[in-house]
Amino acid sequence: MPALSTDASSTVLAEREQISESLRRLADELGRDVEPAGFERWKLAYLWQLRDFQSQLHKLFDREEEGGLTAELLRLAPHRANRIRQVEAEHRKIDVLVGQLVTGVKRMDGAADVRIARLRDQLQDLAAVIRTHEAAECALMQDVYYEDFGVGD
Ligand SMILES: [Fe+2]
Repeated sequence: MPALSTDASSTVLAEREQISESLRRLADELGRDVEPAGFERWKLAYLWQLRDFQSQLHKLFDREEEGGLTAELLRLAPHRANRIRQVEAEHRKIDVLVGQLVTGVKRMDGAADVRIARLRDQLQDLAAVIRTHEAAECALMQDVYYEDFGVGD
């Protein structure tokens, strides 16, 4: 296996674990009871938590797309170019979903806002889309490294 794939893959795995942890913290925070008097402070802190998550995701996508992994997959398995491009397209879709969450949080105007239930649903949907995407990406990498090249045989 080329040296790059080992390094890039293990870093990507570690970053994915951090993404899962951030999603858990975002869900916990959204489930918390917020006093009306502390709502504005909570909203800004939550928005920043979401911004940090957005940046964390962007960095992971950058690493996957620009850090050599995509280029390596395309070089090793040009016949899988469609699948490789599809997982990249999923990054854009995930980014749109996170952007919608940011907009939803900004629109909240009180601790009792009914939008909070919708935000919880959106966050759950986002977590599911990310899990499905990561599984597809893992399957793609396994197919390229193990099926196409027989690494580990
Ligand atoms: Fe990805």
